Amino acid sequence: MSKLLNKKLSNKKILLGVTGGIAAYKAAEFCRLLIKQGADVRVVMTSAAKEFIQPLTFQALTGNRVYAELFDADAQNAMDHIELARWADLLVIAPATADILAKLADGYTDNLLLTISLATQSKIAVAPAMNQQMYQNQATQKNIQVLQQRGVKVWGPDVGDQACGETGPGRMLEAEHLLQHVEQIMQPGKLNGYKIMITAGPTREAIDPVRFISNRSSGKMGYAVAQAAINAGAEVTLVTGPVCLQSPQPVKLLTCQSADDMYQQVMSHIDGQDIFIGTAAVADYRILNIADEKIKKSADEMDLKLVRTQDILASVAALKDKPFCVGFAAETSELEQYARQKLHNKNLDIIAANRVDGSASGFEVDNNAISVFWEEGSKQLSLKSKNLIATELVDIITEQFISCRN
Ligand code: PMT
Repeated sequence: MSKLLNKKLSNKKILLGVTGGIAAYKAAEFCRLLIKQGADVRVVMTSAAKEFIQPLTFQALTGNRVYAELFDADAQNAMDHIELARWADLLVIAPATADILAKLADGYTDNLLLTISLATQSKIAVAPAMNQQMYQNQATQKNIQVLQQRGVKVWGPDVGDQACGETGPGRMLEAEHLLQHVEQIMQPGKLNGYKIMITAGPTREAIDPVRFISNRSSGKMGYAVAQAAINAGAEVTLVTGPVCLQSPQPVKLLTCQSADDMYQQVMSHIDGQDIFIGTAAVADYRILNIADEKIKKSADEMDLKLVRTQDILASVAALKDKPFCVGFAAETSELEQYARQKLHNKNLDIIAANRVDGSASGFEVDNNAISVFWEEGSKQLSLKSKNLIATELVDIITEQFISCRN
């Protein structure tokens, strides 16, 4: 087989729209990666984008002229907006500013990129990049919702330090991550037609009306797994404990607080699910008697009586019509030994074990490294972003699940 045919985006026509934001420089790397994977890339820039990066950069990368003007004298001999709109298999706008999102949502056509966006029948994806307050503003959130309802894919943004000195959601996804989204959207989803339920985040076990026992789970790993499953074409139900994360899209979101709530939510929606993935850090114990009133300080010591919670994962795996079951094991030592014990004791098909004894992986942080075990095999996924780990894990799950059904 030729080298070209091995590339994931061979023969794919990608129109890259670049708008005016500081993240425009990342679009050049994204463009390079698309080409490296065999895509035929054409670039359309807004005039604001040209304030941040030169068209010549994209011309050199793609070997094609860069399109910018709505009324272009050269267009008679080259592609005009209708031809570009017809040509593209996928239009990705990266970075997508608040302004372009608002105009896209309202159907404006006052520049070439917007005109193409209205005229194209191809898939459209946007990678928002802006100040975190602008991103969180109700107007922007509403525009994103409108676009999602119309089928536009919204990739990101990331949360973190921003060029303006603030911290929060609004950073454009890294080029490597955007490439992953493109590869996924251009493939027929491997999990098309399958239903997956995923638990994520911590649970909170109430002591009294104001206090609870919980753990350090942020939900990042579970939400990343949910997004990866959605990207692979699955219909995802995400059962989540209390977290401060944007939910992946499109998803059926079921919220809960305690281990008991999570158990009820899972059990009442598990019927018909093909795969169950337990990423949540579910409390193993709950308070036996939750106080109705706030407990007052009195004695120097206080005893709390704890009782075991129900094991959600094991209960799902014990169902007569059990879905393909994937567990997570959070361990501080003897990773493989404890993980394989859980694999057998809970009657699982796969277990993903991660270390939770340091600061580089596991709870709260953005990265993880996991060892995946199943009856006859295992695979190590080295330290990388939870999004990338999730994509690799979903690939392994898909492979095992499909081979199990055949
Ligand atoms: O949320 P993050 O900050 O991104 O952190 C990610 C993570 C470390 C929480 C995640 O990667 C992880 O390891 N999740 C599982 C945590 C855990 O509870 O592990 P465990 O070894 O105690 O439980 C084993 C499995 O049983 C898990 O799949 C768990 O969801 C499930 N379980 C446990 C107890 C219970 N009552 N019900 C369950 O379903």
